[in-house]
Amino acid sequence: MLRGEDPGVAQDLESLANDLREAVQEAVRRAAGRADVSGAQISTRLSDAPVPVDADSRQIGRILDNLIHNSLTYVTRPPRVQLQSNVERGRAVVRVIDNGVGLGEGERTEMFEPFRRTKNPAFNGVPGLGLGLYASRKLAEANRGTLTVERTEPGVGTSFILGLPLAKSKPAVPPNIAVNGALGEKN
Ligand SMILES: Nc1ncnc2c1ncn2[C@@H]1O[C@H](COP(=O)(O)OP(=O)(O)OP(=O)(O)O)[C@@H](O)[C@H]1O
Ligand SMILES: [Mg+2]
Repeated sequence: MLRGEDPGVAQDLESLANDLREAVQEAVRRAAGRADVSGAQISTRLSDAPVPVDADSRQIGRILDNLIHNSLTYVTRPPRVQLQSNVERGRAVVRVIDNGVGLGEGERTEMFEPFRRTKNPAFNGVPGLGLGLYASRKLAEANRGTLTVERTEPGVGTSFILGLPLAKSKPAVPPNIAVNGALGEKN
């Protein structure tokens, strides 16, 4: 049986094949246009081994889009953003590290509240609702994960960390599919 012939099977395969490193690479691709325009450099540092998660890849994509978008916005020099993904202490992790303006004392937790925005006059002209971090944390929690500020320093930058449960290890292809789809039967 080929993948895609049975919608139920195809869906199962989709949820098995959720590698956080791919979500990171796709988000970086989506941001490439904006990065070019603003002279930003976005880099990745991904583990060699897969980072398997049982998460909704579109929701994870939205979280990463929001974090990258913020990193390219709240910065007063050519933006440098690095996304890292690996398995750490039994969790799947993505870090988004930037060289932006950083968050002041208090802001670090307040910024996750809805409609909370910067008071920095440098960003008066930046449109936004103050919902990106609030919504991103909700999406992380909906996937049994967490979204927090790991480190931040005014004038230096910020590192956000998204943590998700690792997917329980399952065979990459269910055994019955492997048998049915075995090559060489025609010979
Ligand atoms: N990477 C970052 N570096 C510095 N400050 C940040 C960063 N990300 C967010 N902030 C601060 O946190 C505030 C809230 O961010 P959030 O993404 O929730 O809302 P927003 O960007 O203001 O608007 P929206 O995301 O709804 O368009 C921002 O206004 C900014 O002050
Ligand atoms: Mg935002």
